[in-house]
Amino acid sequence: GQHLLSVDQLNRESLGNLLDLAEALRPVGQGRQVCRVLEGANLGSLFFEPSTRTRLSFESAFHRLGGSVVSTTGFTFSSMAKGESIHDTARVVSGYSDALVVRHPDTGSVSEFAQASVVPVINAGDGSGEHPSQSLLDVFTMRAELAARGKTIDGVTIAVLGDLRYGRTVHSLLAILGLFDHVNFRVFGPPALALPAEFFDLVHASGNSIVECDGVQEAIAPADVIYCTRVQKERLSEEDEQQVHLEGDLLNRAILDEAARPEAIIMHPLPRDSRHNSFDLSPDVDEWPGLAIFHQTDNGLLVRMAIFSIALGVADRVLEDLRPAPW
Ligand code: CP
Repeated sequence: GQHLLSVDQLNRESLGNLLDLAEALRPVGQGRQVCRVLEGANLGSLFFEPSTRTRLSFESAFHRLGGSVVSTTGFTFSSMAKGESIHDTARVVSGYSDALVVRHPDTGSVSEFAQASVVPVINAGDGSGEHPSQSLLDVFTMRAELAARGKTIDGVTIAVLGDLRYGRTVHSLLAILGLFDHVNFRVFGPPALALPAEFFDLVHASGNSIVECDGVQEAIAPADVIYCTRVQKERLSEEDEQQVHLEGDLLNRAILDEAARPEAIIMHPLPRDSRHNSFDLSPDVDEWPGLAIFHQTDNGLLVRMAIFSIALGVADRVLEDLRPAPW
């Protein structure tokens, strides 16, 4: 088995194989076909930060492939509340499991889990570090939405909006799209939440282009894909809080009608903060034809089934199971 800690582990070929496997698993995700390659296997699900879709789609993916799940959520309900270390927690729970899925507020902490674990560890988000399964489902969704419009990820123009500083989904997305050619990023966020310089370097090093825009309209005008993110309020320091004054919407229907291409695809890792003045994607965009946010969440199940299949070395058996009968 193998860990999935960072999108840096993938190359164009392994990414393509993973996305193709996720597509092949669609009937299993939708409950139309049965595939029980993980029967008898157990997942340890450790979430030390809130989650709705990542935890429940990882756990559903393991169940859908015939496995079972044990889990703990938050710090209060595990013995970390009594001072137990990451090392000891990982060693203990991995002894009960065939894989671990871990979310933790500290950047780099999931790699610490992996060092002490005796089974593969999947990073479900480590602070403002990475969220590799999210960017895999984002790329899967982008590929499908663009293909439906006769386009590819190579050559795409993507506006990335919101919290570019603490948003780990943004960081993983910029990294993974480095595997594609001629991607043009147009980024916009509040000055205190601007994209750190290292990510401009990362994009340039991959041969793609990136432009920092002064406003949302400027960022989205030529975009094929508009990728929005929530402000990671739980990660703001006291100093940040004094500098970040947010109100209104990050993006709403009026801004789209004024500035976006009518065929633009709208994405968001979710959750979006639906409270008034939360500076997020307004629910009034929900009738926009290219809204893909719930395609992303549905696709998350397929991509996470594919991740388990590869991490646990059963991808060939999955494809064998899914092959139609020859008569
Ligand atoms: N996109 C995402 O990670 O959502 P959750 O925090 O609900 O898992």
